[in-house]
Amino acid sequence: MEFSTSKNGIKQIIEICKELPEWFTPKAVQNIRKDFKKLSVLKVVKGKKILGFAIYKSSGKSLGIEWLAVKKEFQNQGIGKELIEKLEKLAKKKRLEKIETITLDKSTPSRTYESTRAFYKKQGFKKAKVIKRFWGNKNNALFLEKNL
Ligand SMILES: CC(C)(COP(=O)(O)OP(=O)(O)OC[C@H]1O[C@@H](n2cnc3c(N)ncnc32)[C@H](O)[C@@H]1OP(=O)(O)O)[C@@H](O)C(=O)NCCC(=O)NCCS
Repeated sequence: MEFSTSKNGIKQIIEICKELPEWFTPKAVQNIRKDFKKLSVLKVVKGKKILGFAIYKSSGKSLGIEWLAVKKEFQNQGIGKELIEKLEKLAKKKRLEKIETITLDKSTPSRTYESTRAFYKKQGFKKAKVIKRFWGNKNNALFLEKNL
């Protein structure tokens, strides 16, 4: 498995997201396009093919994962875990103290996000807080963090 942090491949990244419409609404895809330009990216690549990616930023003492996905046909092969581990290494190098993300809380029923929470839990993330109606809609946000 190879990693790349070069700022290209947005077309493939959008394709990955479009194959996962339960997670990425058209509005989310638009935001991913914008964030790709502004923030940092970590990709797992095989030749020219992108198998998974994380879009992230450093703020204060933490690294925040904004978007994360593994191409549908390559899921459950350890790629998501590799991405998290590499992000942790990058964060430690920058002397950051934790890694964070925000996802949908269990108080907003969703089969889809049950698996996302299970994945983050497996990677050692813990609940930091829940903010109700965080995105300006009825959805409640779960803030997750892992100390490095
Ligand atoms: C979440 C996601 C990034 C995980 O990537 P992945 O490559 O499929 O996951 P991995 O194969 O690395 O799994 C790592 C571990 O998490 C566990 N895991 C993954 N999905 C799980 C699930 N649905 N339920 C329980 N455990 C799960 C695996 O069993 C594995 O455990 P192991 O190390 O003991 O074998 C990927 O499935 C995905 O893109 N999902 C849709 C988008 C998404 O949820 N993005 C994040 C929030 S926007």
